[in-house]
Amino acid sequence: MVIAMAPQITPRTFCRDQAGDVLDPVGQPLEVYRRCVQHIRAWSELRYASCSAPSPADVQRVRAIQTQQDFFSVITSRHCKRAFVDQAVSPAILIEILRAAAHAPSSHDAQMWRVAVVTGETREMLARALRTRFDEGIGPQPDYSNRAVTLDDVVEERARATARGVPLAKGTDGRSQAARRAHLRDNLRFYGAPVVMIFHLPRSAVPGTLLEMGFFPQNVMLGLVARGLGSCPQYSVAGYGEAIRAELKLGTDRLTVCSLAVGYADETAPVNRFVPERAPLKDYVQWHD
Ligand SMILES: Cc1cc2nc3c(=O)[nH]c(=O)nc-3n(C[C@H](O)[C@H](O)[C@H](O)COP(=O)(O)O)c2cc1C
Repeated sequence: MVIAMAPQITPRTFCRDQAGDVLDPVGQPLEVYRRCVQHIRAWSELRYASCSAPSPADVQRVRAIQTQQDFFSVITSRHCKRAFVDQAVSPAILIEILRAAAHAPSSHDAQMWRVAVVTGETREMLARALRTRFDEGIGPQPDYSNRAVTLDDVVEERARATARGVPLAKGTDGRSQAARRAHLRDNLRFYGAPVVMIFHLPRSAVPGTLLEMGFFPQNVMLGLVARGLGSCPQYSVAGYGEAIRAELKLGTDRLTVCSLAVGYADETAPVNRFVPERAPLKDYVQWHD
């Protein structure tokens, strides 16, 4: 625009980032403004430092700063989404994310994780099968426990706060038996997400195998954020492992770890604004000098 107004200054004009435009944040969420500021600041510092064309090493340094900033915002903006818009997700995006997620570490490179990606008619059939069992009074019977037998008070209170907070954000009180049942039933319809991922392992899995499995869905969830998608991991759904195995013909030798509801989040839904607070660093880090 500057060059269009005063073409004679063309030789003295340069792009701040020679590889492309700075993000236009107008009308975008706060996060985009922050990234825009960081982008401009990084390239300005470089320009003032060198007062000439940046060297390839300088360019690489600034690119690394930008990548880090984007990466941290992906991590910190991932929170559970429990309401989704009615919009299909392109299989190409899912493939890209699942390929990247498999770069997760695993001991001896075992890569034990397996994931069933369920969409369309099969997703409907699975949701129906789970809800039918639930409505018949069949309670969750998970393949493994995800709660320590005893929890300390702080952890217990945090779990209670989330158990209260999610239904409250949905506009129900959550304390009544009926509200708790409605919430579990909502889980079993995957909160309306168009894609459901079921993560599973061999039944012979030991605690270490479950730990390794965890890195993979975390990568998937971060990849989803990077591509503008939302998700919610669900242990509640794994409580119906027998039905999942039967519907998806997974084989009885498989252990259902959890499901992941995936889709474009409905950002107008109050439940999607529920973000539990994180404990301060001092509560979970001890430094050993
Ligand atoms: C293994 C696992 C199982 C979970 N199961 C459920 C679930 O069944 N239903 C649900 O709504 N959220 C479930 N969650 C989401 C947690 O409640 C959520 O991660 C936690 O409250 C922190 O909130 P945030 O992820 O939005 O930051 C699960 C999370 C994990 C890691």
